[in-house]
Amino acid sequence: MSTRNSFRPGELWPDNSGVHINVHGGGVLFHDGVYYWFGEHKIAGEAGNAAHVGVHVYSSRDLYNWRDEGIALAVSDDPHSPITRGCILERPKVIFNPRTKKFVMWFHLEPKGNGYSDSLSGVAVADKVTGPFQFLRALRPNAGVWPLNVPDADKRELSAAELARLSDMDVAGAPRPWYPKQLLFRRDFAGGQMARDLTLFVDNDGSAYHIYASEGNGTLHISQLTDDFLQPAGKFIRVLPGRFNEAPAMLKHGGKYFLLTSDCTGWAPNAARLLAADSIFGQWEELGNPCIGPGEQIANTFESQSTFVLPVQGKRDAYIFMADRWREQNAIDGRYVWLPIEFQHGVPTISWRAEWDLSVFDKR
Ligand code: DGJ
Repeated sequence: MSTRNSFRPGELWPDNSGVHINVHGGGVLFHDGVYYWFGEHKIAGEAGNAAHVGVHVYSSRDLYNWRDEGIALAVSDDPHSPITRGCILERPKVIFNPRTKKFVMWFHLEPKGNGYSDSLSGVAVADKVTGPFQFLRALRPNAGVWPLNVPDADKRELSAAELARLSDMDVAGAPRPWYPKQLLFRRDFAGGQMARDLTLFVDNDGSAYHIYASEGNGTLHISQLTDDFLQPAGKFIRVLPGRFNEAPAMLKHGGKYFLLTSDCTGWAPNAARLLAADSIFGQWEELGNPCIGPGEQIANTFESQSTFVLPVQGKRDAYIFMADRWREQNAIDGRYVWLPIEFQHGVPTISWRAEWDLSVFDKR
């Protein structure tokens, strides 16, 4: 295998065996001097959009060359398991817990046969970074907990009339002008909040957050995890209700928190969005499209959708925007779009580069 020394966004990216890397919707963990890239293992064809294998992991010391480390979390052969083969298992993210010394994985889970309606988060844990991860549970976060940032008047479960109103509405996951901003989190108070696209973020003080598209995709939630990272801690906020942000990826820079997100258009790419706040549970503001370039490129985020922001070790202010160029008809052929984040006036921006390397971070 020839050694790579650059990134070529959107092209085939061979691993150490020459096989296109298979970690879609992924995220990267840096541990003991090594980067680990986790993501959805896809198979060929449209069937590949469901999980037939599990979560794949690769390792690298330089971010260009990746070694196949195998399947970190395997789907189950037990038809009764929530992660049985054929379920939907998306956007796995792994963080390390220094207190328990465990590696903790969260992912979006839809048990087999129900489309995207269950809207669960799956949790798995391992002693070794490359696994095997043991599946712990599937849950809807924050059952019985009210968001921190809603008025007391909204902290009440739905009345029969409100429930009836809701039952007539299509609130299945895409923007709708009638989207009822204040109903869904109240409906889901008792059973837990819907959770689809997700990311994890560990702050400088060691606290970890689960950020997920909730309320029929209409509203993001930022939810703190317990000290062992295995459960919701019972503190969460709603972010931009009714704005329909998907594909969250978090970054902290200059004391500010930034979220890169997308619109909700299924597998088709759309324009990225940048959200910012001074504190994680603070007031989130939408700043617009972080992509810079010709209209057609930035209208679809260089034909990709965000999945993670990767902090590059040993370099100052160096972050990589990681995104997926999905191939709905042949899922295994999905491509990775990695681009450097460039700060302009203190905010992250992203521009197209057909080929680049980490030295871009030295020239600032
Ligand atoms: C967009 C999400 O970001 C993906 O993870 C996946 O769930 C697709 N929608 C399915 O259409």
